[in-house]
Amino acid sequence: MTAPTVEPNTAVVGLQWGDEGKGKIIDLLAGRFAAVVRYNGGANAGHSVVINGQRHALHLVPSGVFHKGVRAVIGNGVVIDPVALVKELDQLASAGADLSSLAISSRAHLVLDYHKTEDALRETLLSKGAGSDPDNTVTTDRSIGTTRRGIGPAYSDKAARSSAIRVGDLLHPDRLRRKIREVCEFKNRLFRALDDGATPLSADAIYESVTAAGARLKPFITDTAYLLHDLVQQKRPILFEGANATLLDVDHGTFPYVTSSTTCALGIPAGAGVPPRALQRTIGVMKAYSTRVGGGPFPTELLDDTGHRIRERGREYGTTTGRPRRCGWLDLVATRYSVMLNGCDAVAIMLLDVLAGFDELRICTAYEIDGERTDRFTPDADDLARARPVYESLPGFKEEIAHAKARAELPANARKYVERIESFIGAPASIISVGPDRAQTITT
Ligand code: GDP
Ligand code: IMO
Ligand code: MG
Repeated sequence: MTAPTVEPNTAVVGLQWGDEGKGKIIDLLAGRFAAVVRYNGGANAGHSVVINGQRHALHLVPSGVFHKGVRAVIGNGVVIDPVALVKELDQLASAGADLSSLAISSRAHLVLDYHKTEDALRETLLSKGAGSDPDNTVTTDRSIGTTRRGIGPAYSDKAARSSAIRVGDLLHPDRLRRKIREVCEFKNRLFRALDDGATPLSADAIYESVTAAGARLKPFITDTAYLLHDLVQQKRPILFEGANATLLDVDHGTFPYVTSSTTCALGIPAGAGVPPRALQRTIGVMKAYSTRVGGGPFPTELLDDTGHRIRERGREYGTTTGRPRRCGWLDLVATRYSVMLNGCDAVAIMLLDVLAGFDELRICTAYEIDGERTDRFTPDADDLARARPVYESLPGFKEEIAHAKARAELPANARKYVERIESFIGAPASIISVGPDRAQTITT
């Protein structure tokens, strides 16, 4: 008898601007792993999992939580809103998830209400053009379009060190109280400088709400780096769940229209506390078209009926904020860049069903920037804003494909579309998704 094959430690990361369907892929694969680990981001993420027609939205808890016996690990690189996490745990418990497998890193940083206040304050100031001109005569909207979940300010505090509070502090009431007092003193000065009418923070009120949430989270708090190293030692496989996506990466994305963490696979060692060699396979998740939420350049954006049709067919409204997502043709220049950065072994092509019924499908295979043609992505937001997409046109497919179970069952033009993607990005599509449900998946 041959021993069952053990999965390699695998990363699942988004290759575009988020919402590619990472949650669905994680849920699909999780049962074969000992643990599913979030290594970056916070409650700005919204990962949907659909099981037997029942939709679940996950923000902080790994999307593998619906598989009994699989550890659900929130790593040190995540920023955790403790109140939001408790709410999510309550929702998951009532949906029947077994939460005993949860582990939360003591080294993860907390997102508290004042981070959300600061996020909103910055966005409001930027939307009025603040800082765009020394004389303040320019009123261009410079806001990022954040989810206002406090992500940027929480990572800023982590990097600044002095005003940061970590999950581990929840285990030490005296230390927690002292830190909250110090932070409030500092933030009150900051908020007053930014906004004359700012309501002062109450250290006591924050301490109470954090302590209440902390009491609930306490049993799950641990050193997750050791937990993961033990699994590596035992050769038990780990699945790493990317949040946000590569083009939103703070270093490699379309800065400054990005989030504040290392979203791509390069963030896994630091955000989970495992050595780079522990990662053995990377699967990139991409939509069959492009979407983006919030501000920033988007060369293939469609502001016409086609964009509208994609939005409605794909139900492209945010899982976290409910905002309509900006929609456009597939940008293979951008996607190939993400495949390169992550070192993807394979990709999952999602939402192919949404493209049924279009006469023509366009894919962007180069940009023209200031009259120069290039097939290399530029993550510089100013340059990318000037990029004009150069399209290849492929014939569309008429038939609905939501019930296709194998690649051979797809219409010939849908297969050609997938094959063109594979040849351009240089990676095989090991998964093709034709609907939100677990069952609507073709593995090749
Ligand atoms: P994530 O943030 O990458 O996990 O993606 P989201 O969950 O935010 O957004 C993806 C959306 O597409 C969700 O509503 C999914 O249920 C849905 N979805 C995933 N795969 C498919 C698919 O193949 N077809 C369709 N029509 N919907 C899909
Ligand atoms: P998932 O994991 C789509 C975007 C926001 C905004 C920018 C910065 O569901 O794919 P932030 O609140 O992080 O400071 O916002 O990043 N953004 C996402 N867009 N999906 C996400 O996550 C996102 N996470 C952040 O819309 O433009
Ligand atoms: Mg999402």
